[in-house]
Amino acid sequence: MKPDAVILGIESSCDETAAAVLRADGTILAEAVFSQQQEHAAFGGVVPEIAARAHLQHLPGLVAKVMRQAGIGYAGLNAVAATAGPGLIGGLIVGASFAKGVALAHGLPFLAINHLEAHALTVRLPGLMPDGPPGFPYLLLLLSGGHCQCVLVEGLGQYQRLGSTLDDAVGEAFDKAAKLLGLPWPGGPHLERLAAGGDPTLIALPRPLFGRPGCDFSFSGLKTAVARAVALGQSRPADIAASFQDAVAAVLADRAAHALDMAPNVTALVVAGGVAANAAVRGALRRLAEARGLPMLAPPLSYCTDNAVMVAWAGVERLRLGLVDPLSHNPRPRWPLAELTPPA
Ligand code: KG4
Ligand code: ZN
Repeated sequence: MKPDAVILGIESSCDETAAAVLRADGTILAEAVFSQQQEHAAFGGVVPEIAARAHLQHLPGLVAKVMRQAGIGYAGLNAVAATAGPGLIGGLIVGASFAKGVALAHGLPFLAINHLEAHALTVRLPGLMPDGPPGFPYLLLLLSGGHCQCVLVEGLGQYQRLGSTLDDAVGEAFDKAAKLLGLPWPGGPHLERLAAGGDPTLIALPRPLFGRPGCDFSFSGLKTAVARAVALGQSRPADIAASFQDAVAAVLADRAAHALDMAPNVTALVVAGGVAANAAVRGALRRLAEARGLPMLAPPLSYCTDNAVMVAWAGVERLRLGLVDPLSHNPRPRWPLAELTPPA
């Protein structure tokens, strides 16, 4: 594949509609993200049917916009990549079908991208990390509203999920705790702001699975404890928020420490997902990485959260190895990383 090959990437697996045009050398020619937050806020969470309709409404205009900005025309594309799972099936069908339509109309290869693989490979986008991409293997901590897992990234198509959540994803836990505290959805950033004025030492909240073997996560007990503290009415909301955030950061660092024990050869601790925006979480993970003599790498926030540049980049990595997909490929709401296979 030529370094000046150009890929159109499409993301529609949850509540972000996104499109990007990326050159194989890592140059981002154009990108756009439409966040559906306002569409879902009134319901306190993502409503799958509303998400699917919103993707359908916004994706064509978004693709037209990035193609215009990239200034290359469809004849200048070399492939089209779209998230094909895991995620909400309605949105996946919209994005993948649109990408297949473009591929069919313009005679281009289609790439069905696993959303988790796209998050896992983002740090390899040339120019993104100041000190260059980490070498394989590295540990990925994916901390978003829909996903919470420790993944050993050994190479393209070679992923081992070392642990994941037994109940809520960590972003979901932030959102639920925030809701209990009367904050708007999505609550993570609001809870962080509230916690800034609180004392994390006043309320003892549980730290689920802390110190246990392995690197699974659990957050439902913590959420219940927040509900109890709120119902008791004896604590300031800011103190509850600070205690919650402190407990989450401690648990994440403990789980990540166990994951590093399970994967002693990694070159870096990579953090992605919306919760990576949280300063307390970042701080706890940075201290852990430093103690282990490893760099902690987090892509800039706009590439930590859902975006189409990461989808296009995963497309570049796969296209380079000739790993294209047939137009008959069906999107998959569940698609564990372990089911991907390394290139032959
Ligand atoms: O990766 P993301 O943008 O979307 C997906 O879930 O795919 O992550 C969104 C999640 C939400 O649960 C949101 O509350 C959480 O990330 N979040 C935060 C912060 N910013 C976003 N959680 C804690 N602190 C933050 N500053
Ligand atoms: Zn994501």
